[in-house]
Amino acid sequence: MKKELEHMNLVTFDYEEEVGVPGAFLIKNNHHSEFFLKTVTLENVPGEGRVHFVCNSWVYPTEKYTKDRVFFVNKEFPPASKLDPKVYGDQNSTITEEHIKNNLDGLTVDEALKENKLFILDHHDSLMPYLRRIKSTSNKIYGTRTLLFLQNDGTLKPLVIELSLPHPDGDQFGCISNVYTPAEQGVEGSIWQLAKAYVAVNDSGVHQLISHWLNTHAVSEPVVIATNRQLSVVHPIYKLLHPHFRDTMNINAFARQILINAGGILETTVFPARYAMELSSVVYKDWNFNEQALPADLIKRGVAVKDKNSPHGLRLLIEDYPYAVDGIEIWFAIRTWVADYCFFYYKTDDIIQKDAELQSWWKELVDEGHGDKKDEPWWPKLQTLEVLVEICTTIIWTASALHAAVNFGQYPYAGYLPNRPTISRKFMPVKGTAEYEELKSNPDKVFLKTITAQLQTLLGISLIEILSRHSTDEVYLGQRDTPEWTADAAPLEAFDKFGKKLEEIEERITSMNNDEKLKNRVGPVKVPYTLLFPTSGGGLTGKGIPNSVSI
Ligand SMILES: [Fe+2]
Repeated sequence: MKKELEHMNLVTFDYEEEVGVPGAFLIKNNHHSEFFLKTVTLENVPGEGRVHFVCNSWVYPTEKYTKDRVFFVNKEFPPASKLDPKVYGDQNSTITEEHIKNNLDGLTVDEALKENKLFILDHHDSLMPYLRRIKSTSNKIYGTRTLLFLQNDGTLKPLVIELSLPHPDGDQFGCISNVYTPAEQGVEGSIWQLAKAYVAVNDSGVHQLISHWLNTHAVSEPVVIATNRQLSVVHPIYKLLHPHFRDTMNINAFARQILINAGGILETTVFPARYAMELSSVVYKDWNFNEQALPADLIKRGVAVKDKNSPHGLRLLIEDYPYAVDGIEIWFAIRTWVADYCFFYYKTDDIIQKDAELQSWWKELVDEGHGDKKDEPWWPKLQTLEVLVEICTTIIWTASALHAAVNFGQYPYAGYLPNRPTISRKFMPVKGTAEYEELKSNPDKVFLKTITAQLQTLLGISLIEILSRHSTDEVYLGQRDTPEWTADAAPLEAFDKFGKKLEEIEERITSMNNDEKLKNRVGPVKVPYTLLFPTSGGGLTGKGIPNSVSI
């Protein structure tokens, strides 16, 4: 492949057509200073149309960094940082091929990337800018990158963990990183166990603050407010969305009193401590309404690609990924219901454009509800039925299935703290120190001294136990608490069809959870995936999709 850089926005690629669709490109920077490569899009690729590479990386001059940078469709190796090198120095990963090449079931790194078998859990860039400040608390936290390999049985295996800390001499010197590889026995086994615990700490905090609080509770609030202020109670879109607001403002107000408040339960039990809310608000700067939609989210995370030959035009790169498999079914069931419903009231786009209430609703949601982001170019323009359907599907998905998936599994999956610690209090023991010797003689004691302390553990588990419970009067997706919510026959019929579709999905989930070929559902620990099983009884069930964010 030959490339010619014409100017910063236009790149011409020549490649042999017989090789097939380009899956990767190599880039060298012959300038004297680094540049930031956001994306590369190849237009008019025969048989494919457009091929898009999301790079978001600094490319350093070859005179300074001799390593080649290779970008794959959706993936790259070694992992790179998006942080500005002028502020944060070199933050790129120190993971090399040597670390992982013997664990790829005979594949080379390039082959593993090309076959979409290499995945990353990347908590580096979002956390590194905070570590110096978090250090001022009693928590000892790393930024982490974990590479995972998709094995032939469909399960993911961790290959390598990189733990990074800010350079002691200042941010401009980059970070100091250590790389750990899997080990079962002896002190190396204990080190690997600790490395996984530091990753779990990162992940549990990001889960609670970003996946749960920001992406479901917080972003549902502007919708509730705009809908109540701008749409009359008899407006069809008000009637469509209203069940998905039940108790949301109450639970968020309650959370502000005792959970996310300064010195509250969350700051006490998650690792960013007093920086927890700041971290979540900084991540919101990159939030995008369109990425709340499940298909866009899966594509962005590199676990699905568009494929016109696959059901719903989406092909999962991890076929047995229960959240994605069940989620796609639920997403499209919601979408069909919303489309049937909206089409009854909006037979032409013109009616949408002339519906003053609807237009004021969307304007307020964007301009006031998301005031800090109102000028983002990606906001959908509410001019067509298709856009109305996508917007309403995204709102309903976020309040119902997305929240259910991140909330009701918290106790079942994270209620045993050694498996899912929320804080680390000590750094990794270093060879030659007394702590390292202690790790050799009493690894369990070092592990327990490192992870969340007893009182915080009790608080944290009590919290997720409460959050994971359904009330007995819960109203689930496909149900309404008032059967007379509309007198229009066609919408009632469409709602009935939606309910039946959800029943079919339940049957499918049950049968997949009994299929031993699906190792991520029927694994050795025997915890079938039920978080997107639509209905449930009250209590701690690990299943059920309530209509709204209500706990
Ligand atoms: Fe919640």
